[in-house]
Amino acid sequence: MKAAEILALKETALAEARAAGTSAQLEQVRIKYLGRKGCLPKIMEGLKEAPPAERPAMGRYANELKQELSELLETRRDALASATAATSGAAEVFDPTLPGRWRALGARHPISRVIEDAIRIFDTLGFSVADGPDIETEYHNFDALNTPEDHPARDTQDTFWLESGQLLRTQTSPVQIRVMESRPPPVRVIAAGRCYRRDTTDATHSANFHQIEGLYVNTRVSLADLKGDLTWFAQRLMGPEVKVRFRPHFFPFTEPSVEYDFSCHLCRGKGCRMCKQSGWIEISGAGMVNPKVFAKVGYDPEAVTGYAFGLGVERLAMIRYGLDDIRLLYDNDKRFLEQLAQ
Ligand code: PHE
Repeated sequence: MKAAEILALKETALAEARAAGTSAQLEQVRIKYLGRKGCLPKIMEGLKEAPPAERPAMGRYANELKQELSELLETRRDALASATAATSGAAEVFDPTLPGRWRALGARHPISRVIEDAIRIFDTLGFSVADGPDIETEYHNFDALNTPEDHPARDTQDTFWLESGQLLRTQTSPVQIRVMESRPPPVRVIAAGRCYRRDTTDATHSANFHQIEGLYVNTRVSLADLKGDLTWFAQRLMGPEVKVRFRPHFFPFTEPSVEYDFSCHLCRGKGCRMCKQSGWIEISGAGMVNPKVFAKVGYDPEAVTGYAFGLGVERLAMIRYGLDDIRLLYDNDKRFLEQLAQ
């Protein structure tokens, strides 16, 4: 091969590279000229037998072929790549049939909704909102509530203790103590918040749950007031036919004490899956404030009487929304929460 032929071959190669319309075609040009079995290795091979006078020119043209063709192939490859990107990008931008992008809207959690609704209903009876800490002293959670250290009632409320001797409150009842310590009677408050017990989680238990505490202290408060006010609340929350039933019970800080039930609003007391065929749904405990508790907070037990009640928030939420597993309220599964969203 003569030097002039190599020069001509270079021009052909460059022209072919310019004409290639796809990266596959570019690759074919590369293989044809620069590949291991392509033209260039053959030219280099031929150099050895070429007449010495021709060799320098042949070598130079062969190098030019390699250099210029490689550069051109690279530029063409980049150009083709960005052209493809631009075309497919354009298709996306101009598709007017795609649906818009929706931003998911948040909603109040069922637990928060029950708490807010309860606060609103008790507000109509003149109750104001009180608050207390989740980390309580042993005194407020137990002793002041007439539950001394060796009292068996403590066993049912085992909880998480801190090294400081404080504990995660097992009930919202310590807020009763804090309120009465801080102001003279009469008081009419409700207090909602988290409570903690060393319970193993199952369909109806959670180590972390919520209660709403109610406390009304005045000169002539009676058990009839308690029943009347709880009935008013139950009917506002669940529906006008709901009845309230008291069953005798024991709490150290109320005397007498009751556990109370709402009649099942789903079957109207006839018996169904929700109320386990009994027609009644257990809500929580209540009673008349024990005079010993009044004495602890410095109220005169001869001058005042009062009632106190607890409401299990998860219970109310489960009944209201027909849930059979308390864990649904804590899993943060959006598919579940969206169904209840208001
Ligand atoms: N604190 C009690 C409990 O958690 C419920 C209760 C509240 C009972 C107020 C009486 C008065 O079981």
